[in-house]
Amino acid sequence: MKKIYNQKQLSACLILVSTLFLAVTSSAQMVTIPIETKHNALVLQTDKDKNLKMVYFGARLSDPAEYSRIPKMYSQSNDSGVLDDAYTPSGSANLAEPAITVTHADGNKSLNLVYVSHTITKIDDNISQLTVILKDPVYDFEVKLFYKTYYKEDVTEQWSVIRHGEKGEVILNKFASANLYLKGNGFWLKQYHGNWASEMQPEEARLTHGIKTIDSKLGTRANLYEPSMFMVSMDKAAGEDEGKVLFGAMEWSGNFKIDLELDPANNLRLIAGMNNAASEYHLKPNEDFTTPAFLYTYSEHGKGNASRQLQSWARKYKIVNGEGPRYTLLNNWESTYFDFNEDKLAELLKDTKKLGVDLFLLDDGWFGNKYPRNSDNAGLGDWQENRQKLPNGISSLIKEAKADGVKFGIWIEPEMVNPASNLYREHPDWVIKQPNRPEKYFRNQLVLDLSNPKVQDFVFNIVDSLFIKNPDLAYIKWDCNAVIYNAYSAYLKKNQSNLYIDYDRGLYKVLARIRVKYPKVPMMLCSGGGGRVDYGALQYFTEYWPSDNTEPLERIFMQWEYSYFFPAITSSNHVTDWGKQPIKFRVDVAMMGRMGFDIVVSKLSKQELDFCHEALKNYDELKDVIWHGDQYRLLSPWDNDAASLMYINSDHSKGVMFNYLVNNRYGAGTKLPIRLKGLDPEKTYQVKEINLSSGTNPAVNTETLTGNFLMTVGINPNVNEYHTSVVLELHAVK
Ligand code: DGJ
Repeated sequence: MKKIYNQKQLSACLILVSTLFLAVTSSAQMVTIPIETKHNALVLQTDKDKNLKMVYFGARLSDPAEYSRIPKMYSQSNDSGVLDDAYTPSGSANLAEPAITVTHADGNKSLNLVYVSHTITKIDDNISQLTVILKDPVYDFEVKLFYKTYYKEDVTEQWSVIRHGEKGEVILNKFASANLYLKGNGFWLKQYHGNWASEMQPEEARLTHGIKTIDSKLGTRANLYEPSMFMVSMDKAAGEDEGKVLFGAMEWSGNFKIDLELDPANNLRLIAGMNNAASEYHLKPNEDFTTPAFLYTYSEHGKGNASRQLQSWARKYKIVNGEGPRYTLLNNWESTYFDFNEDKLAELLKDTKKLGVDLFLLDDGWFGNKYPRNSDNAGLGDWQENRQKLPNGISSLIKEAKADGVKFGIWIEPEMVNPASNLYREHPDWVIKQPNRPEKYFRNQLVLDLSNPKVQDFVFNIVDSLFIKNPDLAYIKWDCNAVIYNAYSAYLKKNQSNLYIDYDRGLYKVLARIRVKYPKVPMMLCSGGGGRVDYGALQYFTEYWPSDNTEPLERIFMQWEYSYFFPAITSSNHVTDWGKQPIKFRVDVAMMGRMGFDIVVSKLSKQELDFCHEALKNYDELKDVIWHGDQYRLLSPWDNDAASLMYINSDHSKGVMFNYLVNNRYGAGTKLPIRLKGLDPEKTYQVKEINLSSGTNPAVNTETLTGNFLMTVGINPNVNEYHTSVVLELHAVK
């Protein structure tokens, strides 16, 4: 698979373009290192004592020689002289929040890091990687800082590799991936919180002095209460199309910690990494400790532009098959829950065909015999087909699916175990739990210890044997419904505090093995909803499950917020029976991503089924634009009666605009035209309403208008109580 490189492959394909001191040097001692992307620059500079500072972050300058002159323009105080460190150590001169804290082999807790050298390598025409080596002058201790830049997308991935040659283990007490220093006339943080069925709730506020922390200590399903995605605006809260804004997120599915410290000089220190809570790491001599990447992009043209940068990057470089297609599907979770058998599934396979989607996805409940999975309190861990429900096994279902002309996918939750299972009885030492304390369950289950290589093999084999036995298996939904309580690993013995980190590394090892063997098979990253949506995991998946809450009004808000960080192609949007909205509204909302259904098809009226067929036909026409095009948010559901957003393809010839009523008060609706974005002003577009329910009049008559008109005046989708959702297709006609 093109996106995942191991270290060896990477070094083999790196082209070394410059080595020591090929940066701009402003004086004999000072080294200035500009890290540029198409529109932005981050500038590092050494001081007279060779401490590495971050002296600039913002729009790139036309003359790189001028970067070194930036610091002179600021007359802010920096009492301790370390506030702007590019990777702040602790225990020496620093009295602010550190990026790294260590306990040396001799018990000493001080660290100083000075610049030694740097290297810039060009990976290809678009990607470069800067490596800076910092060393402690007293201890044999080194930190390498990595900055991998994606030029066109204005995206940077930053991480660090820590290593020592001391006589014995060093304890890493803190180990950030990145440490940024931002300047601005005030900073505004947009962050997210949530819970099951209420993911991605935004909050935005001005940062005050002191430290604001966004973190997770949940172990697995780490984003349940707070994801690591956030935005920081400078000078004022950025809007959709104006303002300076940095988007950041950890590429890590375990515990994370992001500290935003408004320092005494009124600058913002941003320190992001794995959470060090209960996680001091024991590092042997001459071993690399590699932190996950902190991902960021910056825009001086608002949140919309920043999100499009990130979306393009994700499609091109991160997610599996981001530029490829996806399946539409029918899932059986909400139509059967655990209650199904072969006959029922045979009908659902026929329904899949009748509905006209590509794939049938068999959800939870198909496994376990001694402890059958008939509810969520038994069976997890015993991945054999339940003989009563499926006497002829999965393979016969896949055969039947093939005969019906549809593909077949399956649900698994391989990291978990129910105490009521053979697995739990056979391998109690594979389960994360305290030896001397009562067990504490989350959804009646416990988490398997993925720090243990035997457990990694077990989890890999669940997936591998499904594919070996069923080569036509076409899709996996990978669920994860529990957090880690009572964190204790029988495998790690004395190194218990390595567990949270080694768990996630173990998970990635398994996923990487799966991707080596099955590079393109679509896999949905599900975690009881959006408990695990991050690019650390998404590099192994094609899509994620935003929330179990599929009530379409709720989904408009959630999908809106997720879309700042993740492209539509990754958003699994299923039409379900949640809420009271008509089928048209539900389908229209699900169309803004990878569309699926989780409904009882046989309960649809003829009219509803006809509508679904028509909408699927339209989706087929437009899915390429939705999945791979540029997305523009036009009208926010948070401040208006309606939400409106659009997608446009790369040559601006084809687009789609989605409009939804989000307020049920009397007279609510769109009174003004909504200005479109991203069109070609010179082109003329036919604007036509699609997804019309039979028997209803269109809200908008077909119009032919120039891109200039549509972006200057706009169009009124006439969303109101009679037309609660209006989908407009745009085609360039000249
Ligand atoms: C939680 C998921 O979010 C649901 O879609 C479903 O797969 C259930 N788990 C099954 O237990």
